[in-house]
Parts: sequence; structure tokens; C-alpha cells
Amino acid sequence: MDENIAFYEHIVDYYDVIHGSRNEEIQFYAQMINPGDTVLEAPVGTGMLSLKLSQLCKSATGMGLSITGIDLSDSMLEVARDRLPDASLLKADMRSFDLSEKFDIIICPLNSILHLRCDEEVVSTLNCFKHHCKPTGRIVIDSFQSDLELIPKAYKGSIDGLIDPKTNRELILVESSTYRRKTAHLKVEWQLYEKKTKNLLAGSKYSQRLMNSCDFANLIHDSELAILEKFGSYEREPYSRAQPRQIIVAGPER
Ligand SMILES: C[S@@+](CC[C@H](N)C(=O)[O-])C[C@H]1O[C@@H](n2cnc3c(N)ncnc32)[C@H](O)[C@@H]1O
Repeated sequence: MDENIAFYEHIVDYYDVIHGSRNEEIQFYAQMINPGDTVLEAPVGTGMLSLKLSQLCKSATGMGLSITGIDLSDSMLEVARDRLPDASLLKADMRSFDLSEKFDIIICPLNSILHLRCDEEVVSTLNCFKHHCKPTGRIVIDSFQSDLELIPKAYKGSIDGLIDPKTNRELILVESSTYRRKTAHLKVEWQLYEKKTKNLLAGSKYSQRLMNSCDFANLIHDSELAILEKFGSYEREPYSRAQPRQIIVAGPER
């Protein structure tokens, strides 16, 4: 199994708690989606984002969203299926899938695009997204600011104050990473401990291949998509190197 998929299989029980409420992100997507839109979340993970977007849309307009999601991790999909019983959730690879349907909006959230290992994989993913996007539809790709010069060679930090959803005990996440500028590969290790006993509950590694603004622009161009908007934060600030994220809204060339 691919190292990144094995990572998600391993940390699935803690994925949502580690990522917190994601309120700003949810508000960002909510502004992009219209009631009744057909939404493809690729990859969908535990379905938390789609669930919250659908709930928000329903409470604002009385109408939920039609959600489709794909992912390669069986465990993440299992959680998503419990959460979103009405959604269509399929095991599929974002680099190569065919759902025989076109969507109003395709979202590729939270750095998922950085799991792809080379330009060819990014282009084949973007081509799949294009193939599934309505002529007036949008494709939203979100990654953290990965301007290569801003990434430290090595990093170690921790996140405190997490609560284990199963035991209600306090957790601490220790995150360490190393970055090779030559290959643009970031290798990240997560170790999740119970804070009081220092028992290791889960530990696993994943890798990302970082892309800066120029890389994204070139690959989107190669995929014959157009960049419609580009934001630097979930607050919709315009993209610049000083912003924390690169959020690209693309669509079929019109
Ligand atoms: C950071 S999570 C994002 C999940 C979800 N979109 C969210 O916002 O919480 C990345 C997800 O990508 C999935 N994944 C990684 N590579 C994939 C691939 N080639 N095709 C489909 N899913 C993939 C993992 O299993 C994991 O669930």
C-alpha cells in the first residue's frame, strides 16, 4: 500500500480531532457553493468537510447538497459512509477515475494535491477533474503556502490541547518534518501521545511534494484549465507569498 494511504489508515480515528473545527475553511467553501449544487470532494477523507457544508447549506436555504466523494483509504471512506449515508462515496484514485458524471463544483481540499509524486500525476489528476467538471463548473484546489524558499530543512513542533474522542483523555501531537529542496519532497512524521501517561497511541509518516505558485500555474495550463481566482487565505485575501495558503479556483477554458 502507498505510504500516504497507509498513514491515513493508521490515524483515521484521530484525523478529525487533529484538524480541529476547520471553521474558516468551511465558511470559505460555503461561499463558493450554491444550494442544490452537485459537489465532488476528491479526496473526501472522513467526509467531515462535506458533512458540515451540507448542514450549513441546509440550515441557510432548506436545501442540502448532492455530495459525491472518492478516496483510496478504506478506513477513511468507512467513516465518511457513516457520516454521509445519502452521499455517493467510492473507492477511487484521484489520478485516474471515471464517474460518468459532471459536477458544479469539485473540491480538492487540505493539501491533498501535494500527495501526488510528480508532474505527470498532477496533470492526470487535473485532467480527471476537468473531465468531471460542468462547462460552467469550478475546481477548487487548496494547499498550504509551499513557496520552496519558505520551507525549513527540518522542523519539530507539537500541538497540545487535543481531546481523544474515544476516551476523553488529553492528547499531544508531535510533528516532525524534513524537506529536500532538490526534490521538493517534504517527509512528515506524526506521533500522537496520551498526554498524562506519555503512551504512544499512533505514529505514522507521510510525504508531500511541494508546489509553488508557478508550478501550479504551469500544470493547470498544461491541463487546459484556466485559473479563475487565486486566494491566499480562507478569508479570501488575494494570493501572495506572504499568505498562508494557495487556493486556486480553476475551470474549463471558456
Ligand atoms: C488531507 S486528507 C483530506 C481529506 C478531506 N478532503 C478533508 O478535507 O478532510 C487527504 C486524503 O487523500 C487521500 N488520498 C491520498 N492520495 C489519494 C489518491 N491518489 N486518490 C484518492 N485519495 C487519495 C487519503 O486517503 C486522505 O483521505
